[in-house]
Amino acid sequence: MKIVRTIAQLETAPRTGLVPTMGALHDGHRALFRAAGRENEAVVMSLFVNPAQFDEQSDLEAYPRDEQRDLEIAEADGVDVVFAPTPEELYPPGFATWVDPAATGAEGAARPGHFRGVATVCLKLFNLVRPERAYFGQKDAQQIAVIRRLVRDLNVPVEIRAVPTVREPDGLALSSRNGRLSKEERERALGLPRALASAAREPDPVAAARASLNGLGPDYVEVLDLGDAKVLAAAIRVGSTRLIDNVLLEGEIR
Ligand code: PAJ
Repeated sequence: MKIVRTIAQLETAPRTGLVPTMGALHDGHRALFRAAGRENEAVVMSLFVNPAQFDEQSDLEAYPRDEQRDLEIAEADGVDVVFAPTPEELYPPGFATWVDPAATGAEGAARPGHFRGVATVCLKLFNLVRPERAYFGQKDAQQIAVIRRLVRDLNVPVEIRAVPTVREPDGLALSSRNGRLSKEERERALGLPRALASAAREPDPVAAARASLNGLGPDYVEVLDLGDAKVLAAAIRVGSTRLIDNVLLEGEIR
């Protein structure tokens, strides 16, 4: 596995699958590497904690980082190239051009500036790596909607693939934030996947999810259109940790 830290060292290859990540890898990321490996000749993973997408400086500083462990996981899952630039490499002095998506849903409203940072870094990665396909997790459904819109609106020649959410055996979606939950908070957090799963079977899923999430004070409950699929999405706060999740309502995640 090759580790590349500068844009100058990055080589493009045809039939490449790109998996953008911020590290702190878990089985959710591993599902993306494996999907990319099945469908492409080469897999490039980007490892970059993107300062531009953090709405709070404290969140950026607290982001878990363990590059050695991430590299071992990536290598074991068949990643061919890791692109791990410094912030200065992607945002040099004088950087002044942003992609600012206008349709970012309730998640965007809850996190001002977040999707501007995500869209900008993803477009840069698409331009640098030139992948045929790029892989994103269903867990961040609004992110997929934003990136698919960006690719259509700006005619970026990449296929955006969505990979179903990987969960703990009890249903909690894997997330780098789960490690911040106390035992009691983790128990409460389980209310989110449970409420979404049962609401998806009701005639009015949004109303049903709102009713059962009432005690957890949800940020929002909404239906998101990913193109091939509609999902029921919600965000809750458990203590100081914000968690998002979604379940399939109709169509197919792909
Ligand atoms: P990060 O949070 O590291 O996530 C990288 C990818 O892994 C995203 O596409 C995310 O949706 C996916 N992922 C996370 N948890 C998952 C789970 N439980 N099941 C399946 N996939 C999961 O998302 C980002 O980084 C950044 O915004 C990024 C796209 C890298 C841009 O900076």
